[in-house]
Amino acid sequence: MNPVKTGGKDELRTEAVQKAVMACCLCQYRCRILLCICTPCILLGCLFIYITLAVCLSINSSTTPVGMPRNPPLPPFFIASGLNKSGILAPFPIKSFWKYDLSKEAHWNLIQYVMDRQHSPILHPGTNASQNISDLDRYSRSTQQSSGCFPNYEMIWTVSDYFSLPAQIQRFVISMHCRDYPLLIDQPRVCSKHQSEAPMLLLAIKSQSSNFENRQAIRKTWGRSGWVKGRVGKGGHVRRVFLLGTNHSGHNPGIKKNLREESNRYGDLLMWDFLDTFFNLTLKDVLFWDWFSKNCWDTRFVLKGDDDVFVRTPALLDYLNNMEAVRSNTSGQSKTMEDFVVGDVIASAVPSRLQSSKYFIPDSFYKGMYPLYAGGGGVVYSGALVLRLLQVSKRVHLFPIDDVYLGMCLQRLGVVPIHHPAFLTFDFPEGEAKEHCANHTVLLVHKRSPKEIQKLWVETLRPSRKCRNTVLRDELLEKKKKEQEQNL
Ligand SMILES: *[C@@H]1O[C@H](CO)[C@@H](O)[C@H](O)[C@H]1NC(C)=O
Ligand SMILES: *[C@@H]1O[C@H](CO)[C@@H](O)[C@H](O)[C@H]1NC(C)=O
Ligand SMILES: *[C@@H]1O[C@H](CO)[C@@H](O)[C@H](O)[C@H]1NC(C)=O
Ligand SMILES: *[C@@H]1O[C@H](CO)[C@@H](O)[C@H](O)[C@H]1NC(C)=O
Ligand SMILES: *[C@@H]1O[C@H](CO)[C@@H](O)[C@H](O)[C@H]1NC(C)=O
Ligand SMILES: *[C@@H]1O[C@H](CO)[C@@H](O)[C@H](O)[C@H]1NC(C)=O
Ligand SMILES: *[C@@H]1O[C@H](CO)[C@@H](O)[C@H](O)[C@H]1NC(C)=O
Repeated sequence: MNPVKTGGKDELRTEAVQKAVMACCLCQYRCRILLCICTPCILLGCLFIYITLAVCLSINSSTTPVGMPRNPPLPPFFIASGLNKSGILAPFPIKSFWKYDLSKEAHWNLIQYVMDRQHSPILHPGTNASQNISDLDRYSRSTQQSSGCFPNYEMIWTVSDYFSLPAQIQRFVISMHCRDYPLLIDQPRVCSKHQSEAPMLLLAIKSQSSNFENRQAIRKTWGRSGWVKGRVGKGGHVRRVFLLGTNHSGHNPGIKKNLREESNRYGDLLMWDFLDTFFNLTLKDVLFWDWFSKNCWDTRFVLKGDDDVFVRTPALLDYLNNMEAVRSNTSGQSKTMEDFVVGDVIASAVPSRLQSSKYFIPDSFYKGMYPLYAGGGGVVYSGALVLRLLQVSKRVHLFPIDDVYLGMCLQRLGVVPIHHPAFLTFDFPEGEAKEHCANHTVLLVHKRSPKEIQKLWVETLRPSRKCRNTVLRDELLEKKKKEQEQNL
């Protein structure tokens, strides 16, 4: 600023004095601010230097002096201290519960491990454990080839001994990523309501196009659709579908025409466009679950079985009605049936390693035990469970053996199948078949020819006086056990 020279000397002097006073005030003021700001800065600086020195010193002192033992290497897994085998406390993990070396894993275990990791709520906390269906749908679509299911030949190199394996497992390995097969014959109205009441039981029977005789026997006997009276109880509405794949191997167009006619006549065939082989049976499960969720979702029970079983449908309806009553007695009604599955439960099974066996699963494909599962000859589960199975199946890679696959899905849902001795998926134990009323003690028995099925139906529908009051095998076995205990 340039002072305008208008006044005399005095004026200039006073101005200078004023300026000096102002400057002095300003200086004091600045000094105070400087002091205010700088003191903490200086203190912080000191602290910083102190900490730096302390850290440097401690690093220096922690480098092992000559002669002192070095720290042992970190253990490969963490063991919480304070727990050991001797106490009442839980045993500590003596090895890690996650996998270290995946290179020795079998093919299925390896790809499932990857999928399990992708859905782990610990590794991926963002993904909800009760993830919604559309998320899962998107995932399953992205892992499949959406435009048709072509063999994935890259898989050949992930199974160490692929070229020495039997053809059926080879075929499974290159096609197991796909479960997107179109429905060729549909029955959208099978589960339509009868007087506003949804069916009680849907019979879903695995058949093959050539097994016309078996289907006829079932249609005429235990698989009749409509209202079925219970043996003692009120019974329920029963519906029936046969689950079929295609048979392109024969190049026999006649079969296709026959099947169309059969389907028009009986309205009970479901056919998907995949090859109907033993190792493709799991496809029938997952595709049926999908179909069920769209067409039959309010049906209360499903029996999934082979077309060479005999089922005492009236007795089964009594059993199921009873189970519903018992469960709704104890707590809320619909929820309690969500984990209902009953059959011939097999525990601690291991894969067959016999090359000649129909069930052969090589070591390079699957390692470990099978989960608890119900024999695939015939198993009954609730409709509510089907919807859950469909969801969880999108996170479980297909496995060649269908009942084991169901077990794998149940395991992931935390559902334990109920064992019922009246489901005889391996026929009677020796000697028991000869007992006079044996045929009246079962709910389901495997294997029976179409002729036997018809004979059994007549026999069990009108029991002789002696067999009229025969109870199911589970009660009989318990009675025998009690008698034995008393004799001891
Ligand atoms: C377990 O802990 C107890 C008490 O803490 C100790 O006496 C015992 O030696 C430990 N056993 C083992 C196997 O470490
Ligand atoms: C997970 O989903 C449930 C039900 O859909 C919801 O109530 C819950 O808040 C979700 N949790 C997270 C972390 O998103
Ligand atoms: C389910 O996921 C879709 C897509 O991520 C999302 O738009 C939708 O809001 C989700 N629904 C629920 C109930 O979380
Ligand atoms: C396929 O067709 C052939 C010839 O018609 C027949 O022998 C074979 O049993 C059929 N297989 C199945 C699974 O239906
Ligand atoms: C299952 O069916 C598909 C489609 O027809 C076929 O490509 C595949 O080879 C079949 N798998 C087995 C194990 O037969
Ligand atoms: C339901 O509970 C009642 C009382 O506890 C009992 O009397 C009845 O027998 C039960 N019904 C069934 C089907 O278990
Ligand atoms: C039980 O059924 C079988 C057919 O599966 C039949 O051969 C047998 O005679 C029946 N038993 C009796 C006691 O009727």
